[in-house]
Amino acid sequence: MKRAVAAVLLPLVSAQLVWPSEWDEIEAVYTMMAGLNRRGFLDAVSPCGFGTNIQGRQNSAEWIRTAFHDMATHDAAAGTGGVDASIFFELDRAENAGSAFNNTFGFFSGFYNTRASASDLIALGVITSTARCGGSVIPFRAGRKDANQAGPAGVPEPQTDLETTLATFNKAGFSEQDMIAMVACGHSLGGVHSVDFPDIVEIPADPENDTSVPFQTDNQRFHNGIVTEFLANTTKNPLVVAANDTVNSDKRIFESDGRKTMQKLAEGDNFQSMCADIFERMINTVPSDVQLTDVIVPYDVKPTISQLSLNDEGNIVFKGDIRLRSTGGIRDPADISVNLVYTDRNGGCNKTSIPTRRVTFRGGQTTGLYDETFYTWEFDAVIDGKRGISKFLVYETIISENKTIIHDNQATGGYPVQDTLLYQLDQSCMGAYQDGRFPLTIAAAVREEEVPGALKLNVVHEVPRQGVIVPELKAELIDFKAGERKNGWLMYRAEASVADTVKFDILSDKDNIAVHFQGTGPLGGC
Ligand code: HEM
Ligand SMILES: *[C@@H]1O[C@H](CO)[C@@H](O)[C@H](O)[C@H]1NC(C)=O
Ligand SMILES: *[C@@H]1O[C@H](CO)[C@@H](O)[C@H](O)[C@H]1NC(C)=O
Ligand SMILES: *[C@@H]1O[C@H](CO)[C@@H](O)[C@H](O)[C@H]1NC(C)=O
Ligand SMILES: *[C@@H]1O[C@H](CO)[C@@H](O)[C@H](O)[C@H]1NC(C)=O
Ligand SMILES: *[C@@H]1O[C@H](CO)[C@@H](O)[C@H](O)[C@H]1NC(C)=O
Ligand SMILES: *[C@@H]1O[C@H](CO)[C@@H](O)[C@H](O)[C@H]1NC(C)=O
Repeated sequence: MKRAVAAVLLPLVSAQLVWPSEWDEIEAVYTMMAGLNRRGFLDAVSPCGFGTNIQGRQNSAEWIRTAFHDMATHDAAAGTGGVDASIFFELDRAENAGSAFNNTFGFFSGFYNTRASASDLIALGVITSTARCGGSVIPFRAGRKDANQAGPAGVPEPQTDLETTLATFNKAGFSEQDMIAMVACGHSLGGVHSVDFPDIVEIPADPENDTSVPFQTDNQRFHNGIVTEFLANTTKNPLVVAANDTVNSDKRIFESDGRKTMQKLAEGDNFQSMCADIFERMINTVPSDVQLTDVIVPYDVKPTISQLSLNDEGNIVFKGDIRLRSTGGIRDPADISVNLVYTDRNGGCNKTSIPTRRVTFRGGQTTGLYDETFYTWEFDAVIDGKRGISKFLVYETIISENKTIIHDNQATGGYPVQDTLLYQLDQSCMGAYQDGRFPLTIAAAVREEEVPGALKLNVVHEVPRQGVIVPELKAELIDFKAGERKNGWLMYRAEASVADTVKFDILSDKDNIAVHFQGTGPLGGC
């Protein structure tokens, strides 16, 4: 397992993804929190104390608790368990009491798909909650895989003795000091709920009146009050001051090394740095068959192609946008013009560059965690159908300096575009809901001289699972049927039936001739 040092600033641009990447989707969820084209992943934790207006609830705390309970049964020696979303199969266990876990996925479900696993979203949830609550930067790596079944039991409970609890942390790869830090950091937010642990908080369980007794006085901000109140003996942490000492797990854990770690956590900025470090290690605790990515850093230049399709004249409609990072004022969007210079499919450079227009809606600005800021320039061009397009460069001109910077996709020669097989957005549609299904028609166009063998539509259905809030992602392969010929292209169609919105791919026999990860969102009705 790779371990990165918790850094104050995100790593430099050198570690950026090469576009297009299978991580583009999760990069967008991570970076485009608010503003233009917002994904809104932080909405449920804004502000830090937000609980969807449900009494007793604090979403940021629930997200962090979810990650811990998912991770806690990791077996480092065997390489099993860890952050793998198996928690969602384990909610009938007393050790996973409460609605926190289902609530968490209830929000994550809007982001969950083949490119954003539930377990990566759990990790991103810890990072986002920590950031939104005023904690430090935690680097984000993606690549976690979701389990299809429950893992072993064994999350420590309030009445679990210290020896067993320590053994659980050790088994998962954490020392005694790590255990103390992880619990103290986790219990900075949220509290103990009367509906879940009435005996501990000594408030009757009334489903109509859930009372969360906070672990520290100000539990809507990520800070070391949990530690300083404990050391000052003023704490009201229910897992320290419960009348029944058997359930005082925090007290036993915090005392276990003679308060040494607690004292360390109380000094200076140690709490923030130690918590970022232990949370990072917590979310990067994964089964040994999972290879996490390098730290995901925001793209400096990120293209998004929203449409690449054949028009009636046999030319190619090429629409999309270019997102430029301007964090810390590294760019002045008002002083920039952006053009795309593209190469045709035979390698010829087109001297006519494609102009872009800065988006002004919502100020054209997108923001992420840690004051990340982006601006977006849109393009809408028609490309000669025969000559086509194979790649483009992004020319960024600083107007006041008359200086042009050429972005070549991490020195790979440009941003590649596949124009053999096109997804015909305007001829695709989603029909009216009938008997619980929507008919889906997907159209494609293929260059006649380069037909790559059978075309398949890969539809990813979300299939509900009994008793598990996370649906199964089930792929269905459907044959495309060839239809008319037009302007040197062969038109195709595939029909599917879906229960909800879906993501889909258009696949051929050749890996490099495909259109990946499209959504039904932009489709018109049939
Ligand atoms: C021995 C270890 C631990 C025990 C026995 C324990 C026990 C508990 C209990 C009983 C609750 C109340 C839950 C409810 O009322 O629904 C709770 C809440 C919470 N725990 Fe732990 N915990 C432990 C470790 C951790 C760790 C390591 C983290 C995170 C890193 C964590 C994060 C949280 C959070 C954020 C809450 C608040 C949830 C909310 O407000 O809804 N816990 N814990
Ligand atoms: C809810 O419970 C709290 C104690 O936790 C109590 O003070 C309050 O009066 C209760 N509210 C209602 C409406 O029952
Ligand atoms: C808190 O209580 C512990 C144990 O009773 C004691 O050793 C310590 O001195 C007390 N600390 C303060 C600040 O009163
Ligand atoms: C204290 O809590 C433990 C664990 O939940 C329980 O077994 C025991 O009966 C409780 N003791 C009292 C006096 O309530
Ligand atoms: C360059 O692009 C323009 C506009 O799409 C097109 O009219 C022209 O034929 C292209 N030239 C070459 C050499 O591809
Ligand atoms: C900007 O620079 C280009 C060459 O890079 C030059 O041809 C052009 O005249 C310059 N424009 C102005 C306004 O200085
Ligand atoms: C979680 O959601 C599943 C599926 O909706 C449901 O069957 C289960 O009872 C829920 N569990 C809890 C603890 O709310």
